[in-house]
Amino acid sequence: MAQNVFDFRGAVRYIFGCGSLARLGAEAATFGQKALLVVDPALADAGILDRIVSAAEQGGVKTTVFKEFQQEPEPTEADAAAALAKKKKCDLVIGVGGGSGMDLAKAAAVLVANPGKAVDYVGVGLVPKPGLPTIMVPTTAGTGSEVTWTAVFTRRAEKAKGGINSPFLYPSLALLDPELTLTVPPDLTAATGMDALCHAIEAFTSVKANPLSDLAAQEAIALIAEYLPQAYADGRNILAREKMMLGSLLAGMALANAGVTAVHALSYPMGAIFGVPHGLANAVLLPYVMAYNAIGSPDKFALVAELLGENVDNLSTREAAQRAAKAVHDLMTDLELPDTLNDVGIPIDALEDLADKAMNLGRVLENNPRRIDRDDALFIYDEAYGLPSDDECDGCDECDDDCEDDCEE
Ligand SMILES: [Fe+2]
Repeated sequence: MAQNVFDFRGAVRYIFGCGSLARLGAEAATFGQKALLVVDPALADAGILDRIVSAAEQGGVKTTVFKEFQQEPEPTEADAAAALAKKKKCDLVIGVGGGSGMDLAKAAAVLVANPGKAVDYVGVGLVPKPGLPTIMVPTTAGTGSEVTWTAVFTRRAEKAKGGINSPFLYPSLALLDPELTLTVPPDLTAATGMDALCHAIEAFTSVKANPLSDLAAQEAIALIAEYLPQAYADGRNILAREKMMLGSLLAGMALANAGVTAVHALSYPMGAIFGVPHGLANAVLLPYVMAYNAIGSPDKFALVAELLGENVDNLSTREAAQRAAKAVHDLMTDLELPDTLNDVGIPIDALEDLADKAMNLGRVLENNPRRIDRDDALFIYDEAYGLPSDDECDGCDECDDDCEDDCEE
């Protein structure tokens, strides 16, 4: 069958490599003279803020710093950043950090040029006009925000999470310097790296995958599988940091064009209701969603297993596809990550509500290679909680029946 028509988008330009931060000032000066610098507050303490300001100043670019925001920000925080940019008459926005800082910067840039508030544009294609030019400088290897058209916000009062998705959010420049990730602590290295792996595997198995997103996703999976454990084992390993940043970028490219699937759809309510960090929520769900999805795209999941380093010689496609989830489980063990919902603080009586909320993410679930309704989502949450399946469970207090042995606490 002929290939369907597809297009492929991303940041306008990329600069990648150790030491590339030194080019920030000269590059920023091609866009303007006054930059709003949106910086993750933790980076001020790590000394990275000073390095960014000094790099920008070397190009003659003055900076106004916006760093008073929370992780996984509210839309109102983007409104505040945009208001500051307007007040200071900024002509470009530089976003520095993980997903929170970069998403906030991308949203602020379009809000400067458009009426209304960030919450008005949560959805797809709702932003009327382009905003200020943007430069994204990631400081973790995970989010991929430096290349995507999305800015995700958490609306805690509504217990909801959702993104502004607009072509006007694609950054003007993604500047990736792996040296900026050298100080990321091991637990954050693991969680953000697993988020990148989710992007790659979900995009690769999405029904919207195309040949270019597949190329990016496959390379990302192989890089992350090989180098995430090394970056976790020794954060000073610059080769591992460099390969992880490249893997994260490629995963972001794949995600920007093929979308994500049920892992992200099911993890969003965990973040919105219980504040489970994005990377961790995705990581916990990933092997369970993969096991569920394997029959929907067996050839691709078999290839994922191989890319993750599994020996699939002499296995049927079905058997190889099932190995993919096991390989992710093994990787998470190496990274000392929790592997059940219980371990990340989700109460058992929340699973029904989580399944209801996940159904609000129909646009994401449409990408899933296996159809998924509310009961399917609940099945996955049950599995990820560590509840025994019906055929091994005789019941207990946990599941309102009368067994005592088989259910985990
Ligand atoms: Fe993500």
